[in-house]
Amino acid sequence: MSENSGASTGRGGATHVSLPTDKELVMKVIPMPSDTNANGDIFGGWVMAQVDLAGAVIPARVAQGRMATVAVNEFLFKHPVRVGDILSFYSSVVRTGRTSITVQVEVYAETFRQQGRYIKVTEALLTYVAIDDQGRPRPLQPA
Ligand SMILES: CC(C)(COP(=O)(O)OP(=O)(O)OC[C@H]1O[C@@H](n2cnc3c(N)ncnc32)[C@H](O)[C@@H]1OP(=O)(O)O)[C@@H](O)C(=O)NCCC(=O)NCCS
Repeated sequence: MSENSGASTGRGGATHVSLPTDKELVMKVIPMPSDTNANGDIFGGWVMAQVDLAGAVIPARVAQGRMATVAVNEFLFKHPVRVGDILSFYSSVVRTGRTSITVQVEVYAETFRQQGRYIKVTEALLTYVAIDDQGRPRPLQPA
């Protein structure tokens, strides 16, 4: 669980936070100018694609084979992402079912030039299903 690290605030008054200790760092990426929308911020669809990729990392480890995203049941853009940010994607399993794994993904931004001060920009809940060669749900192997 991330917690506020004090009164320090970032752009737009966003509070600086500590990185989560109960989640795994599964991906880091730096958005480029080609990823911006008409406002000059990073396009939400680009962020969603990165979250889908990052969210798949732990389920892929468990599924050990083909899988698909079945649902994005929550997606919150808390603060805009800018060119020049470094994004860190943290993930943890919130549910393991018969064929599916649900993960929570949190995304933290730090600026390229002033690293180590983070704001939480996005959080999402995604479910992935292990599938067989015909694309049908496949039971997960016991751990
Ligand atoms: C993923 C897919 C194979 C699931 O097939 P399905 O017949 O809907 O499967 P089921 O109803 O048996 O559900 C399979 C699992 O998904 C879960 N699931 C289905 N809908 C869900 C939803 N809206 N939210 C959360 N979990 C969901 C079920 O609970 C079940 O999990 P469990 O076995 O662990 O209990 C099928 O829906 C599909 O091919 N969808 C397209 C996937 C895709 O193209 N994704 C984008 C690119 S990867």
